[in-house]
Amino acid sequence: MCGITATVGADDAVSRLLTGLENLEYRGYDSAGVAVANGSGVEVVKREGQVEELVDLLSSTSIDGSVGLGHTRWSTHGPPTNANAHPHTDCRGELAVVHNGIIENHAELRERLRAAGHTFTSDTDTEVVPHLVEEYLATGAGIETAFRRAVADLSGSYAIALIHEDEDAVYATRQGSPLVFGLADDTPGSSSDETYYLASDVPAFLEFTDSVVYLEDGDVVRVAPDGYDITDREGAPVERPVETVEWSSDDVEKGAFDHYMRKEIDEQPTAIAQAVRGRAADGRVAFESLPDGAFADVERVQFVACGTSYHAALYGAQLLRERGISARVFLASEYAITAPPADDGTLLVGVTQSGETADTLAALRRGRSEGLRTMAVTNVVGSTAARECDDVVFIRAGPEIGVAATKTFSSQVVTLALLAERILRDVAGSHSETAPELLDALSDLPSAVSATLTDSSAEAIADRYGDSDAYFFIGRGTAHPVALEGALKLKEISYEHAEGFPAGELKHGPLALVTANTPVFAVATGAHTEKLLGSIEEVSARGAPVIAVAPRSERAVAEAADDVLWVPDSHPELVGLLANVQLQLLSYHTATLLDRPVDKPRNLAKSVTVE
Ligand code: F6R
Repeated sequence: MCGITATVGADDAVSRLLTGLENLEYRGYDSAGVAVANGSGVEVVKREGQVEELVDLLSSTSIDGSVGLGHTRWSTHGPPTNANAHPHTDCRGELAVVHNGIIENHAELRERLRAAGHTFTSDTDTEVVPHLVEEYLATGAGIETAFRRAVADLSGSYAIALIHEDEDAVYATRQGSPLVFGLADDTPGSSSDETYYLASDVPAFLEFTDSVVYLEDGDVVRVAPDGYDITDREGAPVERPVETVEWSSDDVEKGAFDHYMRKEIDEQPTAIAQAVRGRAADGRVAFESLPDGAFADVERVQFVACGTSYHAALYGAQLLRERGISARVFLASEYAITAPPADDGTLLVGVTQSGETADTLAALRRGRSEGLRTMAVTNVVGSTAARECDDVVFIRAGPEIGVAATKTFSSQVVTLALLAERILRDVAGSHSETAPELLDALSDLPSAVSATLTDSSAEAIADRYGDSDAYFFIGRGTAHPVALEGALKLKEISYEHAEGFPAGELKHGPLALVTANTPVFAVATGAHTEKLLGSIEEVSARGAPVIAVAPRSERAVAEAADDVLWVPDSHPELVGLLANVQLQLLSYHTATLLDRPVDKPRNLAKSVTVE
């Protein structure tokens, strides 16, 4: 899950690496480090803790150079310690390596290298890489050849970058882990014509350039101040286009907000408008790159996803089923090991903000290996899911930096609502009868979200119920995934115990947990709110305070509740998104009242690239 970065060409490599690491911290934040090659050797500075602690350390330990590597870690092999922090070096400290991914055969490589006399100083899988390169250098190979031979020995997933004291260059490669290459031609403070960047994700260098090459698995790139070349595993040159990313550097700044999460909650009106833009013209749903009839053969849809994206998929599947299209949702980690029998006519859709979640990729690969047609619904152009699937639809939310997914949930659901209509049209020959109202409501949704944000009493509710034993969220229909998402958001950033249930399931077990000190949030935006009233009575009778999350039209629910988080009335299939915005704010305020590190919750990272 870590973030890696590298830069070549700018005199102030370290400050650029630190900018990159700050922008990649959502990928991991338990230790960080940099290394530079500066003509007098390779210097490494690294430590346990967040990037700001590395910045502090570097203010008293200055290292200079124009070629360097950086890493921010989310531990897998070995605890977060100074020794386990990257970059890692060979026995002589002549070269340094950063790595994101997992080297599966590290134990056997370590044994082989130990037997050959190498000394290891960390518990990481990564450390085998610098020692392997050292081993091949000792046979007389050049740096590039030694790098290639070392990489050929690895199995697992990796994005790796290497510097060596003898050369002003970075070597890098990827296999199953993301790696993008940025090119800037007018960088102030640069002594070479171009400054180059390598990183796990574009936000690392967006401040310096929007020109990007998306590297493919097996690509090996050598980057030096006078240029770069990209080759395949065998060393044959490969052409990769330079593309311009649409994201701007403002998108990855916190601006006036205290937290990225708060900023991203506020960005939802724009994110939703972007997801809909150009896709619902003249009453017809159109997706770029998906010609009319693209889904004509679809008989059923299977979704695979994790976490918040799983909740968005649950929401989207209901919208499909309401249109008579069979749709099921699977947790990606389970699907990868117990997929249902493959049938012709199944469209397997991976919903994944990052497009890099290992469980979701494994599920999609499993489906693909069984002959299923695959589609990615993702936020990240050039991501693995986008590249590996047969089709892709982008949710266009813009970069999301806060670890807790917020705006991407809304953008995913809106995209899935459009997709549901689009699949129906291809399968049945026309959109649903209610499509015109849905499309109108989608164009009004950004202003309804703005009104929800402006009018929210979530902070007061967070304050009122902030000292509870646990928090429960219930809902039916499309309010069920909203209840699940409300609970996930609250637990991940406030560390309070929170659970979401289908309201009808309460009486089959969870009711035993309900007490006078467990507030129950009743999401009244799905169908059958009269039945939700029954659930409210059940929990009220046990003394639990009930907070309805409801549109004004749901008077009966509001009257049965102790408090209400109001949302504007909207289309019945979309109003759940407004309830979700209220629950995002509730989580945010609960977490800030408890003084939690909202953007970097303990033990979590945004992009989960290990299974
Ligand atoms: C929760 C959260 C995670 C992600 C999950 C899947 O706030 O962000 O649950 O939703 O790790 O990530 P993606 O969508 O990138 O596949």
